[in-house]
Amino acid sequence: MLVAIEPKAPDILSPIRHRAEVMANRRVATETWWLELDSPEIAGRAEWGQFVMIGFGLEHLAPPFLPRPFSVAWRAEDGRIGLLVRAFGVGSRRLAELRAGEHVLLLGPLGRPFRLEPGSRVVCVAGGVGLAPFLFLAGDARRQAFDVDLLYGELTADKVFDAGLIEELTGGPPIVWTEDGSLGRRGRVTEGLSVEGRVTVLACGPTPMLRALAGRAAREGFDLQVSVEEHMGCGVGTCQGCVVLGADGRWKKACTQGPVFYASELTWSPS
Ligand SMILES: Cc1cc2nc3c(=O)[nH]c(=O)nc-3n(C[C@H](O)[C@H](O)[C@H](O)COP(=O)(O)OP(=O)(O)OC[C@H]3O[C@@H](n4cnc5c(N)ncnc54)[C@H](O)[C@@H]3O)c2cc1C
Ligand code: FES
Repeated sequence: MLVAIEPKAPDILSPIRHRAEVMANRRVATETWWLELDSPEIAGRAEWGQFVMIGFGLEHLAPPFLPRPFSVAWRAEDGRIGLLVRAFGVGSRRLAELRAGEHVLLLGPLGRPFRLEPGSRVVCVAGGVGLAPFLFLAGDARRQAFDVDLLYGELTADKVFDAGLIEELTGGPPIVWTEDGSLGRRGRVTEGLSVEGRVTVLACGPTPMLRALAGRAAREGFDLQVSVEEHMGCGVGTCQGCVVLGADGRWKKACTQGPVFYASELTWSPS
């Protein structure tokens, strides 16, 4: 069993780069894998919502040649980090095929993390593998005596990450939504959001979900933090591949100024 450790202050200026051993990799839902890597330094420093860039090294002469960003979904006392990987492209499929004992190149922890307001209720809205940062956050926050609701939506039941393991990692059951009603409540996970009293609302998932929540936050006047999933080439502010348009009309780099933003900091174009 993975045992959580308490977070330390983030240090986004000096990420750690190293070759990490794969400790375990198993399929946990349709096209979805739970990957554990040996990375004591990243495990010791990662904050909620931060990510790692994972590369494979050029010696294999096989794509992808650029690293890919993945949220730190868990970190354990024994120095492992856990990642929740949905495989659909060349890089994520290679991650799905990894076996214990193989190695990847890691850079991290990177990016601006989620922040919790002391004394508030925490509501996490997760769409698909947007669940990843909240496995880590919800467990820590509950241990720090925050009242946490974890709303988790998928299209269909076969894509839902093991609810028992979610409960083990986060200390409470998720509220599961599926769009076809094949598991949990029927509909979109955003329908489950109720904002009453002092609440910190955090969201991670596909852009249409974040856009819908941002519209609601603007109409109803609550603060919303979102983690955006942009394409990233470097993860450290060099390639400009990850820019999003700020509400002030300036481009922001999702890798260094995000991936977590207040929704009010960004421009949300119509879908
Ligand atoms: C900060 C951050 C954290 C992330 N955390 C996770 C995580 O925990 N688990 C997880 O499964 N994924 C996560 N992602 C997404 C993950 O990085 C992409 O799925 C991955 O880079 C895809 O690489 P690939 O080589 O498999 O796909 P590619 O072969 O590069 O792409 C396949 C197809 O998908 C499209 N595509 C690729 N990436 C994206 C994207 N981000 N948004 C929209 N379309 C895209 C491409 O245009 C292409 O059409 C995260 C992304 C970011 C920015
Ligand atoms: S990923 Fe290269 S600048 Fe953000």
